[in-house]
Amino acid sequence: MSLSLRFILPLILALAAIAYSVVPLVDQLTLRWFVRDLDIRAELVANSLQEPLYEQLQTGKPAKTQAYLTRLLQDERLFGLGFCPEGGGALIATKGFPVAIRCDGLERFGDPAARLLESGLGPLHIAVRAVDHEGDALGRLVLVHDMSFIQRRSEETKRYVFYFFIGLGFVVSLITVAIAQLSWRGWIKGMRSLLRGEGLLREPGKEEAAPEFLPIARDLRALIREMETEIRPRDAAQMTWTPETLRAILRGELSGEDVLVVSNREPYIHVHRGDRIEVQRPASGVVTALEPIMRACSGTWIAHGSGDADRDVADRNDRVAVPPEKPSYHIRRVWLTPEEEAGYYYGFANEGLWPLCHIAHVRPTFRTSDWRQYVEVNRKFAQAVFAEAKKPNPIVLVQDYHLALLPRMIRERLPEAIVIAFWHIPWPNPEAFSICPWREEILEGLLGSSIIGFHTQFHCNNFVDTVDRMLEARVDRENFTVSHGGKLTAVKRYPISIDWPPPAELTVRSVDQCRGEVRRRHGLGPEHLLGVGVDRLDYTKGVLERFRAIERLLELEPAWIGRFSFVQIAAPTRTSIGEYQQYEAHVRALATEINERFGRGGYKPIILKIEHHQPQDVYEYYRAADLCFVSSLHDGMNLVAKEFVAARDDDRGVLILSQFTGAARELPEALIVNPYDADQCAAALHMALSMPAVESRDRMRLMRGLVAEFNVYRWAGRMLLDAAGMRRREKVLEKKEEWPKRQA
Ligand code: G6P
Repeated sequence: MSLSLRFILPLILALAAIAYSVVPLVDQLTLRWFVRDLDIRAELVANSLQEPLYEQLQTGKPAKTQAYLTRLLQDERLFGLGFCPEGGGALIATKGFPVAIRCDGLERFGDPAARLLESGLGPLHIAVRAVDHEGDALGRLVLVHDMSFIQRRSEETKRYVFYFFIGLGFVVSLITVAIAQLSWRGWIKGMRSLLRGEGLLREPGKEEAAPEFLPIARDLRALIREMETEIRPRDAAQMTWTPETLRAILRGELSGEDVLVVSNREPYIHVHRGDRIEVQRPASGVVTALEPIMRACSGTWIAHGSGDADRDVADRNDRVAVPPEKPSYHIRRVWLTPEEEAGYYYGFANEGLWPLCHIAHVRPTFRTSDWRQYVEVNRKFAQAVFAEAKKPNPIVLVQDYHLALLPRMIRERLPEAIVIAFWHIPWPNPEAFSICPWREEILEGLLGSSIIGFHTQFHCNNFVDTVDRMLEARVDRENFTVSHGGKLTAVKRYPISIDWPPPAELTVRSVDQCRGEVRRRHGLGPEHLLGVGVDRLDYTKGVLERFRAIERLLELEPAWIGRFSFVQIAAPTRTSIGEYQQYEAHVRALATEINERFGRGGYKPIILKIEHHQPQDVYEYYRAADLCFVSSLHDGMNLVAKEFVAARDDDRGVLILSQFTGAARELPEALIVNPYDADQCAAALHMALSMPAVESRDRMRLMRGLVAEFNVYRWAGRMLLDAAGMRRREKVLEKKEEWPKRQA
């Protein structure tokens, strides 16, 4: 009901009720007044008639008396006159005098209530007055007044009262509506400004809420406080994905499903160290992301057994339980010959596809012999999947560019399998991708998946554009699906992340301990500022650009010389490839050059550590540093950025992040830079080193909030939920297909 009606309706009802009860009252009142008037009038008439009537009676002729009385009836209100002589004589009355009035019954008209008499012509008023002459009673004069005029006037009064109330109602409604509208607008305005927070904070120099809103402002403040203390932690808990959330999905949505992960790189590498066997955790984004998932899921991870002690610890089914300290899932190792590894891994994957997909200005090299090995090794992985699958319809999570042909191979042999392929590196535009001589085979291989995932929407778009340009396929850009050879593939964005909170053993030592320990190790004073970079020694990581930025900083801001050093942890990688060997040589040379130029008295601006570091060591550096610099020239996501954020539970440290990483889209609170712009990067370094603690804390808190919420469990969980959704859809569609058969 509209606001105005809400006011007007009750008002009109109240006025109608008042009018309804007032009208009879007014009626009675006017009647009483008129009766009293008629009584007075009768008295007056009777008094003025005494003398003339006496004279008429003296004539002794009743007819004359009657004629006299009839003359008096000229008065329009006088209906009849009668005279009852004293001593019981006959009634002398005018014509039409009511027969009900008789001389022997006049006493009853003494009662005021009985003075009214109903007649066929309407109500009559009867007044009886004694007439005398000089003290001698002559008789009683009966005056009958016509009261129909009273009825007429009463009707008029009722009409007047009725119109009066209508008018009154109209005027009062108008005023009420105007006032209501005005006050409602004021109220809404006040409430809106309160909800915007105006007047809620008691800040000096700022206005408090208007007095009428003060009680509400108080309630709102209390509510906000309550939400801050109660609701926020609860919400955060609800939004945080945990290993338990994943397990719940596997037990619920995917209960009874067979989940397999396939990647080239294995999460634990067994290597001989003298007569000991050591376990290494490789520096790999894929491993960083998938390992915590596998711990939560207890599935099987099929990967290349690349360690020289891997066979020694595997059982006869090529399986080994990991993690070594608390086994919770299995690695199924795939063995490759040196020729296979050379062609498939070093050759096609890392000299061909890797530079093809990264814009790092290194030319891809494609060799037919590498391609053949790539096909063969993908087949080998497929065999391992068939051997490990306990059911004909497993859910297989295929990882990365090493295994682009695997989805199709799985689909051909296990058509009911759900294959989710995740491409961990960027996907180039169609022109760049068309360089690959086996582009159609790669695309068709990937389109064997039910879902293909990328870190960013940009890479999804590039993939769909490439398919559209190179294959006979139907591309649906609204739902982001590709239909090829009768098979539908969804193309989706799943930004990868890390374990949250990071494993306790990585943050067990306090930030202060880490700061002290790292500075002591490198002979630096406690106040010495430290930057850190953690990468595989790969040309896509922009390590040279990073060093040039540091050099530029020291040129532009010499005050930092001797007060700031940068520790670069660089894990050797793909060392058999010429491009990587040259890159390492360049990195070493540039570090030496800068150190020679700015170093003095043992001070080195760049501390280069080209060796493998275990996660505990890497986290120690993250926690010891004042800033972390990620300067990738192109990167699907870059998990180092997220790890640094996760490591800083003290809310300190500044992240400098390349705009060419997927992570830059999720962490805008980092200092985002173009790694090719040395001046800009130097300015970012200077800003990070001199950033007020409050600002770095605020930035870090925001980034930590995001990584906590969008952690790796969410990444995997979303994919598994999508897989579960596909399973359900398949079941429904099976039923739909059965329908026509049943009809027949
Ligand atoms: C990138 C790739 C991964 C790869 C990792 C380490 O993150 O996307 O698939 O495992 O680099 O490279 P590596 O060649 O040592 O496995």
